[in-house]
Amino acid sequence: MQLTPYKRENVLPLPVVLISTLSTTGIRNAAPWGNITPILRPLDQIILASWIRRDTLDNIRETGEFVVNVPPVGMLEEVMICSRNYPPEVDEFEEAGLVPRPSSVITPPGIEGSIAWMECRLVEEILREKYALVIGKVERLEVNDQYASSDGDIDIESARPLSMVCGNDGIRYTYPVDAGRFAPYSEMFIKQS
Ligand SMILES: Cc1cc2nc3c(=O)[nH]c(=O)nc-3n(C[C@H](O)[C@H](O)[C@H](O)COP(=O)(O)O)c2cc1C
Repeated sequence: MQLTPYKRENVLPLPVVLISTLSTTGIRNAAPWGNITPILRPLDQIILASWIRRDTLDNIRETGEFVVNVPPVGMLEEVMICSRNYPPEVDEFEEAGLVPRPSSVITPPGIEGSIAWMECRLVEEILREKYALVIGKVERLEVNDQYASSDGDIDIESARPLSMVCGNDGIRYTYPVDAGRFAPYSEMFIKQS
């Protein structure tokens, strides 16, 4: 079956994160985001796509700081509350009952109970007519010990990071399962003799 090109995310599962920011007047904001990806590995930048009219984008532009929180599936209700279009003066932590977690190197708080927290600073904004691409540098990355081994690998079966698949009428929320096959990075490169 052929699909119209704008349905890309019907066939491409996306991660779901909660981006937390502060306005210049100190109002806490949190919004779910699917269009976010690391820029290659093992680098330290991420890129996200934003429609122009987003409090999140305004806050990132004005303060240069944001936290990418990775929510477990158990935080789904809060994610859905934060997806509502509140005016900028509404504290979305309060609306969704999110517990703030003080950040270490930036001012906006993260969200307690997340699987991981990326404290980011704005590197560059690429502005187009209807959207903006935001490149951020991950200044500090922390994983919740509850879900991680001592060397920082997360246990996806217990963490159950939220992801999404779009359908014709809305979003289906999902989480990954282990496919039972592990491939070391060394397998992906041809050995030079
Ligand atoms: C699962 C999910 C993923 C989303 N991903 C994005 C996204 O990648 N980019 C975007 O601009 N909006 C995205 N949205 C919409 C925003 O989260 C929503 O409009 C929110 O109200 C924006 O809040 P803000 O104005 O406080 O930033 C997403 C919504 C949901 C529910």
